[in-house]
Amino acid sequence: MRRTLPVLLATVIIAAGCLRAPAEEADLNFGYALDPFALASIPQYQAIVANDATMVTVENYMKWGLIHPNPSTYDFTLADQIVATAQANGQQVRGHVLVWHTQLPGWLTNGTWTRDSLLAVMEDHITTVVTHFRDNFPGVVTHWDVVNEAFNPDGSRRDTIFQQVIGDDYIEKAFAFARAADPDISLFYNDFYDDFSLAGETLLTGVPAGPGATPTQSDCAQLPKCAATQAMLTDFVARGVPIDGLGFQAHVLLGQAPDYVELADWVGPLGLEWAATELDVKVLSSLGDNSATRSAHADTFVSVLDDCLESDRCDTVILWGVGDAHSWLPGFTNGLFDYGLIYDDDYLPKLAVVKMFERLEAASVD
Ligand code: XIL
Repeated sequence: MRRTLPVLLATVIIAAGCLRAPAEEADLNFGYALDPFALASIPQYQAIVANDATMVTVENYMKWGLIHPNPSTYDFTLADQIVATAQANGQQVRGHVLVWHTQLPGWLTNGTWTRDSLLAVMEDHITTVVTHFRDNFPGVVTHWDVVNEAFNPDGSRRDTIFQQVIGDDYIEKAFAFARAADPDISLFYNDFYDDFSLAGETLLTGVPAGPGATPTQSDCAQLPKCAATQAMLTDFVARGVPIDGLGFQAHVLLGQAPDYVELADWVGPLGLEWAATELDVKVLSSLGDNSATRSAHADTFVSVLDDCLESDRCDTVILWGVGDAHSWLPGFTNGLFDYGLIYDDDYLPKLAVVKMFERLEAASVD
C-alpha cells in the first residue's frame, strides 16, 4: 500500500491538471482553446483548465459570424462566459480572431461592398469587439489574433472578400483599428506554415503548393508562404504598422514538427514576438491511440514546447482544445486524423501531459 499511494496520488493530481504551476514558474503563457459548452458542463474539463492553463483562448465564439451575426447585432454571450471563467481563474485570454475568411456571417459574404463601406464595417467590427472585452474584462484579454491566414501556400495573397474588395492594405488597416481600440494589447498575425497543412490547403483550394516547413527544412526564406509573411511583417515594422508578433498555428503532424526557432529566426530582429497559437499533433486514425503513437505524440508536443522555451522571443503555447472528445481534427479531416490533444476522449491525461510537465519543471529550475 505504502508504495502504491504516491503513484495513485500522482495520477490523481495529473488527471486533474498540473501544468499551470510549472508554466508560471517558466514564465510561459500556456493553455487551451475552449468550448463554452464543455466548460459549463464537464467537471473534469473545468478542473484541467483551472489547473493547467495560465492563458486560454476561444475556439469559435469570437469569430465574426458568431459574435457579429447581423450587421447591427453583436452576441458576446458565449465568449463572455469563457472570458469570465478565465478572469475568475486568474488567467489571461488570447482573443481569436478579428479578421479571417471563414466563419463569416452571410450578411457580410453576400453583401455588396465598396472599399470604403467594407473598411467601415471592418473598423466597426474590430472596434466593437476589442472595446467590449477591454471595458468589460479590464486587463484580461491581453493578446489578439488580428488577421488570420491571409496567404496561399505559394505566397500569393488568399483571394478573400477583404483582399478582393479592400486590397492589400486590409491587413495593416485591421492592425491600426485594433491598436486604436486598445493601445495595451499585443497584436498578432496568425497563420500555418508546415508542409502537411499547406498540402491540405492546396488540395482544398487548388492554389499551387509551395514547400512548407518540415523537421529538416525550416528556413523561412526557402518557403514561399513564410517568405511572403516575412516580407509583409518587415514592411509593417519599417512603416510603423502596429504589430507585436507572429502566431504559428502549429497544427503539426505526428513526428513532423518544424524547428520553430529556426523558422522564426527573423522575427526577433524585427523587434517582434512569436507564439505557438493552435498546437495539436495530428495522428493518422489508422495508426490508433496506443503506447507507440502516444510516445511519438508526447515527443512532438515537447519539441514545440522546447522551441518556445528556448527562444527569448516566444512566451506563449496554446493547444487547440483540451481533450480529444472536443477536438476539431476528426470532423475537419473526415476522420483521417484524430488523437491530437494531450487528454483523451475521457479527459484522462496522455503521456504528453507527463512529458510536458517534466519539460516545464526543467525550465523553471533553469
Ligand atoms: C476551427 C475550429 O476548431 C472548428 O471548431 C471550426 O469548425 C473551424 O475552425 N485555424 C484557425 C482556427 O485559426 O480558428 C480553426 O478553428 C482551425 C484552423
